Amino acid sequence: MEFYEVIKKRRTIRNFSDEKIPEEKILKVLNAGIKAPTYNHLREWEFILVKDIDLRIKIVNAEGIPESADMEQLEQSFSNLDSTAKQMYLDAIPKQKSMLLKSPELLVIVFKPKTIVEKSKSVYDLNCLSSVWCCIENILLALTAENLCGVTYIPQKSEKIKEVLNIPRQLEIAAIIPFGYKLKDAAVLPQKKILLEEKLHFNKW
Ligand SMILES: Cc1cc2nc3c(=O)[nH]c(=O)nc-3n(C[C@H](O)[C@H](O)[C@H](O)COP(=O)(O)O)c2cc1C
Repeated sequence: MEFYEVIKKRRTIRNFSDEKIPEEKILKVLNAGIKAPTYNHLREWEFILVKDIDLRIKIVNAEGIPESADMEQLEQSFSNLDSTAKQMYLDAIPKQKSMLLKSPELLVIVFKPKTIVEKSKSVYDLNCLSSVWCCIENILLALTAENLCGVTYIPQKSEKIKEVLNIPRQLEIAAIIPFGYKLKDAAVLPQKKILLEEKLHFNKW
């Protein structure tokens, strides 16, 4: 797939078909991740593919994701949001549990922090996080190039999930990416239209 087509085609998908993904495709995608730029030249990233359903259930439980979402309450809490953002949350929140449990693959991306998150005082201190996000974007684009799709999920109870997955304490989870082939009728939500002309500045703001 041509590069700009990949960029255009990459979308967040939260419903996947059951089709199994060939291992060589997964390795290709992760190798694309490893090619991303990195602040210290070391690419201190690790990847865990969580296949075991019991571990996935423990992740969902650690996060405390409720059995079902209260749509009325969600409608209310997002009533003041931009309409495309509201539409996204109303679609996404009820799917958080199923995407973590049912996606054909669940990728946990771990990184070594330069400064622990709570002690970071500047963007510079977060270079390790910025680097791992370059890796994540490469992975999302490579998934698209392979006709796969995924969704980035950022855990709120990382410490508990680190315990569940035996991740060393000094490392952090950057994101969890459920991925697979798109379910035929999976929702592809409208992207908010952003005009470059309104964002581009020359010389000064
Ligand atoms: C840092 C980050 C955190 C995100 N967290 C979540 C999440 O926890 N759950 C979820 O369903 N989607 C999550 N997303 C996906 C966004 O909702 C999605 O990227 C956004 O709505 C734009 O849609 P698009 O990716 O199709 O362009 C996250 C994306 C990013 C970049």
